[in-house]
Amino acid sequence: MITLLNGSPNKKSKTMTITKKLISNYKNVIHHFDAYQMNVFSCDDCQYCKSVAGCKFKDDMVNFYDCLKQSDTLIISSPIYFGTLSDQTLQIINRLQVYYNQKYHQNNTLTTLKNIILVVSQGSDKNYMHEGVKHTLEILGHLLEAKTHFIAGMDTDHPINFNKQLINQITDVKSACFD
Ligand SMILES: Cc1cc2nc3c(=O)[nH]c(=O)nc-3n(C[C@H](O)[C@H](O)[C@H](O)COP(=O)(O)O)c2cc1C
Repeated sequence: MITLLNGSPNKKSKTMTITKKLISNYKNVIHHFDAYQMNVFSCDDCQYCKSVAGCKFKDDMVNFYDCLKQSDTLIISSPIYFGTLSDQTLQIINRLQVYYNQKYHQNNTLTTLKNIILVVSQGSDKNYMHEGVKHTLEILGHLLEAKTHFIAGMDTDHPINFNKQLINQITDVKSACFD
C-alpha cells in the first residue's frame, strides 16, 4: 500500500507526470493526498508530542498519519522551490516530528515504512538545485527506518523530457520497490 503526497499546486503538475509513470502498473491501494488541498496547521514546536502520542492539532494530518501507518511506501512528489520542497509539502513533513518524539522521547511503537520515494522536478538542469532535498529524504528515511529512493526531472521549463537518464531512474525505483 502506498501513501502518495502530491506537493504541487499545479493541476498539470510536471512532477506528478513523472510520479504517474512510476506508479503506472502498481496494483495495490494508493492513498492520494494533495498537499495544497489539505487543511494542515504548521508544527509550532509546542512539545505536546514529547509526552503524548500524536499531535494536538486534529486536522487533515489525522487521516494522513492513519494511511501512513497502513502503508509500506511513502511517495512524495514535489516541485523544487528555491532549492527545497514546496512549502505545503514541507509543512506536512514537519508534522512528522510526532514520529521523532515518539521514537526518541517515548520509546513508543513507531510507524515504519519499507520505502520512501522522493520525486522532484525543477526548472534548472543543475544538480545542486536538489542537493538539499536529498538530505531531507535521508533524515526521513532514518526516522521511519525506510530505504530511500530519489527521482529528479530537470529542465522543466520545457515539456518533461523522458530521456534515458529519467527513464532509468524510474525503472530502477520501480524494480526496487514494486517488483
Ligand atoms: C516559487 C517557485 C520557486 C522555484 N524555485 C526553483 C529553484 O530553486 N530551482 C529550480 O530549478 N526551479 C525552481 N522553480 C521551478 C519549478 O521547480 C518547476 O517549474 C517545477 O517543474 C514545477 O513542478 P510542478 O509542475 O510539479 O509544480 C520554482 C518555481 C516556483 C513557482
